[in-house]
Order: sequence, then C-alpha cells, then structure tokens
Amino acid sequence: MLYPQPQVLTPTRTDVLVLTPWLAPIVWEGTFNIHILNEEFRLRNATVGLTVFALKKYVAFLKLFLETAEQHFMAGHRVTYYVFTDRPADVPHVPLAPGRRLEVLEVPASKRWQDVSMRRMEMIGRACEQRFRREVDYLVCADVDMRFADHVGVEILAPLFGTLHPGFYGAARRSFTYERRPKSRAYIPWDQGDFYYMGAFFGGSVAEVQRLTTACHRAMGEDKANGIEAVWHDESHLNRYLLDHKPTKVLSPEYMWDEQLLGRPAVMKKLRYVAVPKNHQEIRGP
Ligand code: UDP
Ligand code: GAL
Ligand code: MN
Repeated sequence: MLYPQPQVLTPTRTDVLVLTPWLAPIVWEGTFNIHILNEEFRLRNATVGLTVFALKKYVAFLKLFLETAEQHFMAGHRVTYYVFTDRPADVPHVPLAPGRRLEVLEVPASKRWQDVSMRRMEMIGRACEQRFRREVDYLVCADVDMRFADHVGVEILAPLFGTLHPGFYGAARRSFTYERRPKSRAYIPWDQGDFYYMGAFFGGSVAEVQRLTTACHRAMGEDKANGIEAVWHDESHLNRYLLDHKPTKVLSPEYMWDEQLLGRPAVMKKLRYVAVPKNHQEIRGP
C-alpha cells in the first residue's frame, strides 16, 4: 500500500487538540488516513452494529437517517442496523448495499420522552447480552433525529468512544451542563470533568458498550429510587461514566453538529452527522 509518509515535524492540525491527556486520539478531519484504517479493519474481518431508536412519532426520522447512513456510514463495510421501535410496520424499506442488513427489535414505548431516551441504556445493554455480542464486533449508538452529511467511517471505532457536544467544545468545565446535585449518581463536581459528551453518539466494542449501558441503567434506577432524575437524563449518566472510564477515542463535533444553531465555524472542515430540525412539542406530544 502506497501513501504519504507521516511527517514527525509537521503536525496534521495546529488549530485543535488532537490528543487527550490520557493519550486518546480526538478525531478531526486531517488527522487520519482512511485508506490505512479501512485496510486494517478489513484484515480483521470486523463488523459494525448501528443501534437507533425510533419510537412513537420518531419513526418519521428513520427514512432520512437510513438513506444517508447508506451513503456515508461505514461505506463498503458490513453493517447491521438495529432499529428499536414500537411501530415495526412503519419502518421504511430503504435499499441496502451488499453486506448490510436491517434488524427490527420490537420494544415498548414509554409515555415521557425522557423515559424513552433513558430506557435506551437498558435496552441496548440487554440486547448486547442477548445477541449483539454474537453478531457484531463494534456498536455505534445514535439518535435518530439526525442525518449523515459526510463520511463517518472506521476512524471512529475504538474500544470506547464518546463525542464532543457541539454546544460546549470550547467551553470551560464550569459551564458544562453536568448533573450538579450530589444526590444523583450522575453528579460531577464543578472542578471535575474532561469534556461534555453528547448522549446522541457513542459506542465501542460490544463488551464496553454492554458495561457502559448496564452501568448507566443501574445508576438511573438508583436515582429513580432516590426520587431524583438527572438534568440531561441518560446524557448526564454517560458523562459521569466517561469521566470514570476514559474513552479510548473522542470524536470531534464534526460527528455531532447542528448547523441551524451553530453555523459553520472554520475549524469544522466537515459536518458529518447533523441534527434534523424538529418541532419538539409536536414530535414529543401524543
Ligand atoms: N426517541 C424516540 N421517540 C420519542 C422520543 C425519543 O424514539 O418519542 C429517541 C430517538 O432516538 C431520539 C432519542 O430518543 O433521537 C433522544 O431524544 P431526542 O432526540 O428528542 O433528544 P434531543 O436530541 O433533542 O435531546
Ligand atoms: C442541548 C441538547 C440537549 C442536551 C443539552 C445539554 O443543546 O439539545 O439534548 O444535550 O444541550 O446542555
Ligand atoms: Mn436527538
């Protein structure tokens, strides 16, 4: 394989942090050669599962999510979409490239949107045990109210990865919207925290995702028993977990963007996975 030599005296990016203090790569455009990574991934004959929840009215987001994933998500690799839904008949029939398949997992809906969001941890954890560990090597866990707008490939894969929330990547930790009440199991004190991770895109090996989701589910159950709900639900617990269990890769906000809210700063060379505008009240209502 022929490719340009890495240049030890020439940093690939000088405008952003590309390595955490625990030496995990922060993935930005320009820091990786996708051809090397694809070759490595193929030699390992690995497969990826993409979990996505589309309950109640959110089934409406599936078509664009799946169509754009076919264009941009792990193109050329084997992928299984795991669609969790209470409306299996409404899952659209999107043509899939060879080596890619879609599995529908029928699950019950919760009344409150917060519970739908939080229960993802429980359902992913259970499915890891029941099938994912036999069916795929990596899991990517994604929100459905999004579309893929540019390349999202094997560069994101690692034993455990989280994604920087687009609203806080340049912010001081005191302004992170962590859970600040000590009574919650998601509590993070003001003087702690590395990054503010977004609940809408995380993943890793099946074993690590099973650990993460099971731990977050257990913590949310303890909060409930203690009469408290973390300020940003599963996202608050994800942040607590990733503080205690450092991710082995961190995805830049290229992998989680909202152009309506945040425009297009020069530092974002690519907008890869982006929010689809929604009317919160309408889509979450009865
Ligand atoms: N979700 C769902 N049905 C609902 C509410 C939420 O399927 O009625 C799922 C869906 O995958 C969604 C995720 O839970 O992307 C998180 O909720 P939402 O995207 O509304 O949260 P936000 O990103 O706005 O914080
Ligand atoms: C918002 C986002 C929420 C949550 C929150 C954290 O922008 O829509 O899902 O992540 O930030 O402060
Ligand atoms: Mn969302």
